[in-house]
Amino acid sequence: MITLTNLRKHFPGKSQTRAVDGLDLTVPAGKLVTLLGPSGCGKTTTLRLIAGLERPDEGEIAIDGRTVFSSDRRGFVGAHQRPIGMVFQSYAIWPHMTVLANVMFPLREGHEKVSRPEARKRALAALELVHLSDLADRPSPMLSGGQQQRVALARALVRQPKVLLLDEPLSNLDAGLRDRMREEIRALQQRLAITTILVTHDQEEALAVSDEIVLMNAGKIVERGLPQEIYAAPRSEFTARFLGLSNALPGVVRSVAADTIEVDLAAGALSARRFEGAATGDQVTVFLRPDSFKLTRRQHSTSAWPGQVEFSIYRGDCWDYHVRVGDDLIKARVFQEKIGLSRGDQVYLEPDESGMVMPLTEGSPGKDPLDLTVSPQASVGTGADA
Ligand SMILES: Nc1ncnc2c1ncn2[C@@H]1O[C@H](COP(=O)(O)OP(=O)(O)O)[C@@H](O)[C@H]1O
Ligand SMILES: [Mg+2]
Repeated sequence: MITLTNLRKHFPGKSQTRAVDGLDLTVPAGKLVTLLGPSGCGKTTTLRLIAGLERPDEGEIAIDGRTVFSSDRRGFVGAHQRPIGMVFQSYAIWPHMTVLANVMFPLREGHEKVSRPEARKRALAALELVHLSDLADRPSPMLSGGQQQRVALARALVRQPKVLLLDEPLSNLDAGLRDRMREEIRALQQRLAITTILVTHDQEEALAVSDEIVLMNAGKIVERGLPQEIYAAPRSEFTARFLGLSNALPGVVRSVAADTIEVDLAAGALSARRFEGAATGDQVTVFLRPDSFKLTRRQHSTSAWPGQVEFSIYRGDCWDYHVRVGDDLIKARVFQEKIGLSRGDQVYLEPDESGMVMPLTEGSPGKDPLDLTVSPQASVGTGADA
């Protein structure tokens, strides 16, 4: 388990950046928790503080029950004494060494120096974990990006750390390899049941591999939760936007019933689940995922919005469209469609139940969750013949 309490770190300079601004976080033993957020939000700094590579201004860090930093008690355990393995974004493989020498390195330096034969044995076992035993004697410069990444992972694991810290380990790999390595890292993490913090700015990666996601912005935690929770019901506008809820439509609450509300959007009306405190006349933002529309050539439901295709892209497993509906350009993603639509085609867009997320009172991102789900009567079309 890793516990961070009111952790703070600023970097001196003109901007006085508060890189980490009062972080409270618990990472349960054996779990993979992802720090997700835009570039510069403090993810790397958080990892470096945990690893002991930076010294916090304030707060407390405990790893596996042991306090490794406390500003109150003036305690600081150095990086080498912390039970941590880290993979850096750059991998930091030493080019003048073979693969095996790179992985043996952490065992051959520092206080608990291991004998050479023992270090070799353990390094080979670590290489086995990442399926790289065959390349043990290869000079490091003769490795592909994916292989370098595996070396870095083996080196991080060779001391059998209690905690694994991964800083954007996949961002330098090309797409196909990234998907495969993503699965491998997750499989290995689960097999070893090692407490892991993964840092990424890639929401898809975070959703795919995490037990829990912690969304960060400007040195602070915005929100945390299970991937499916954060994806399906984000509590803040920041999260909703960051997770690719690209259709954010301003609207006004027209009426409030017992369980539902009617919202007027420029594109049309929308029936949605009532949120607490909803009142007629409230200004709201409604988020709709691109994959939450039915797109049809004919109007099957009076709640469907008429529009015109402005742009289309075929992605293999789906089509992405930009559909002009009045003043709004709505992004829609459609799966299981045989014939693509083209620019200029007249269509009907029908937001479906699962796609509705939430409106937030305008100008108040981060307010309480206002969970809006389209009521059943709002989605009756079949959409079968698009
Ligand atoms: N060594 C440093 N000196 C000065 N500013 C830094 C240093 N490291 C990070 N920062 C600043 O701290 C903030 C957080 O950086 P970082 O933790 O690297 O973000 P992330 O990993 O989320 O992209 C940024 O504004 C960055 O410019
Ligand atoms: Mg970073």
